[in-house]
Amino acid sequence: MAINIGLSDKQRQGVVNLLNQALADAYLLLIKTKKYHWDVVGPQFRSLHTLWEEHYEALTISIDEIAERARMLGGYPLGTAEGFLKHATIREHAGDLPSANEMVSRLVTDHEQVIRNLRTAIEQSAEEYKDEGTADFFTGLMQQHEDMAWMLRSFVEGEALQSSGDRDNSLRTPAEA
Ligand SMILES: [Fe+2]
Repeated sequence: MAINIGLSDKQRQGVVNLLNQALADAYLLLIKTKKYHWDVVGPQFRSLHTLWEEHYEALTISIDEIAERARMLGGYPLGTAEGFLKHATIREHAGDLPSANEMVSRLVTDHEQVIRNLRTAIEQSAEEYKDEGTADFFTGLMQQHEDMAWMLRSFVEGEALQSSGDRDNSLRTPAEA
């Protein structure tokens, strides 16, 4: 049965491609978050281990929603490790064991990359493909990544502030901390 929801095949294919790129990045981010949840050691173990569990659970839910949105628009989600690697924009760091702080900053970098990609995807969905539904969906997804990036960023910034002695921190910018 032809899909008759006010979007052409080309428009739907356009947003399905955007959804697949978001899916690939979310999958890699899920793998990296789980690996760091397993590997992390040090005084921050408990907080990071728990935070990353919350993050990979949220990512698992959004991955399913991204894939199912591709189906709802008549497309097919990627579903192979090879496909995810080919379409992802974030990078893996195979074979190393970074410090807890390095794990956090790598994930901040990844979430920020995903946020920038989603910002572009929102604009393309709405303007180029006239699909407000997918633009709205991507907006919600971007807000989730903004929240996760903030949690992680605060973690690293907090570390720096703790070692700053008796200076008044109230007006300091993160760059000074
Ligand atoms: Fe676990």
